[in-house]
Amino acid sequence: MRNLFNRCKALYLRRLAKNDFILAMFVTLFVYFSAVLANWAEGIGVFIQRHEFFQFDELLLGLFTAACMACWYSYRRVLDWKCELKQRQSAEVAVLNMLHENRTLTQHLHTAQEDERKRIAHEMHDEMGQYLTAIHLSAHVLVSQDNALTLPYAQRIMQHVAHIQNAIKHLLENLHATTLEEHHLADAVECLCNSWQIDHPNLECHFMISPFALSHIHWVDSTLKIAAYRMIQEALTNVAKHANATQVSINMDISKQTPHLSLSVLDNGMGMDLSQPSAGFGLLGVRERVRALHGNLKLSSSPQKGLQIDISLPIKVSD
Ligand SMILES: Nc1ncnc2c1ncn2[C@@H]1O[C@H](COP(=O)(O)OP(=O)(O)O)[C@@H](O)[C@H]1O
Ligand SMILES: [Mg+2]
Repeated sequence: MRNLFNRCKALYLRRLAKNDFILAMFVTLFVYFSAVLANWAEGIGVFIQRHEFFQFDELLLGLFTAACMACWYSYRRVLDWKCELKQRQSAEVAVLNMLHENRTLTQHLHTAQEDERKRIAHEMHDEMGQYLTAIHLSAHVLVSQDNALTLPYAQRIMQHVAHIQNAIKHLLENLHATTLEEHHLADAVECLCNSWQIDHPNLECHFMISPFALSHIHWVDSTLKIAAYRMIQEALTNVAKHANATQVSINMDISKQTPHLSLSVLDNGMGMDLSQPSAGFGLLGVRERVRALHGNLKLSSSPQKGLQIDISLPIKVSD
């Protein structure tokens, strides 16, 4: 009995049109046959005649009008509902179109940004590189003349030039990683991890890639490669800037079914409060990149347990 009641309740809660119709038919037939068997109308007629003073017989017309008005009211609400549904559907289509445009625009902006970075990097390399080399050579000539008056200045110039060349090398690597152009994603990330390790000796950086991902890394096209690299770069910059961590590990995998690239960056730092709105633009940029590529981003963190960034990006496999 309890089971039957629970099943009826579940059916009622599902609000299926078919179930409601069956219930309405059942109640109508039940009332009709009960009335036939028990002669309800005659009984009611006798009751009304006996209490003529209360004018119950006039109530019939009122009830009929109320039923008609209820039908009219329902009909009007259905019209309202249909109109609202249409508006909502067109709003949904507009939002989807905007989202698509937004994704395309973001993708375009990132490509333009990458091209601009490349152009600036090349110009810096060509313009400044040769002048610095010339200054270095001139200073070297001065040093070789062994003039006591100019020697300390020439040596200082050489030191400064070496410093600027080093700084420019770093800047160029950040602006436009040549490893990214020359190598596949796994090698580029490994190089990034190694150079990052040199710059941050107190932080251990581990990079791991699954054997399947390594053998199928050619599935990752250049758009995806640049996006993934930039996101890992931002995550590492954040670890150095905010995490106060001693270790960071980068994991890369490719899944075969519905091919997608999975990246995760995990540090053992102070973590962050994910319920608070973020003031910076770095993570926002990562989110935008992921959205533009139809991917997923998940941040997990708890105080003093570090931050884990999980990114999943769909891969378009051409063969
Ligand atoms: N690995 C991390 N560990 C702890 N906090 C982090 C980490 N990454 C980001 N955050 C927090 O998230 C905020 C937003 O980061 P981000 O959007 O990259 O902006 P920005 O680096 O310019 O401050 C940071 O200000 C920092 O508080
Ligand atoms: Mg940042």
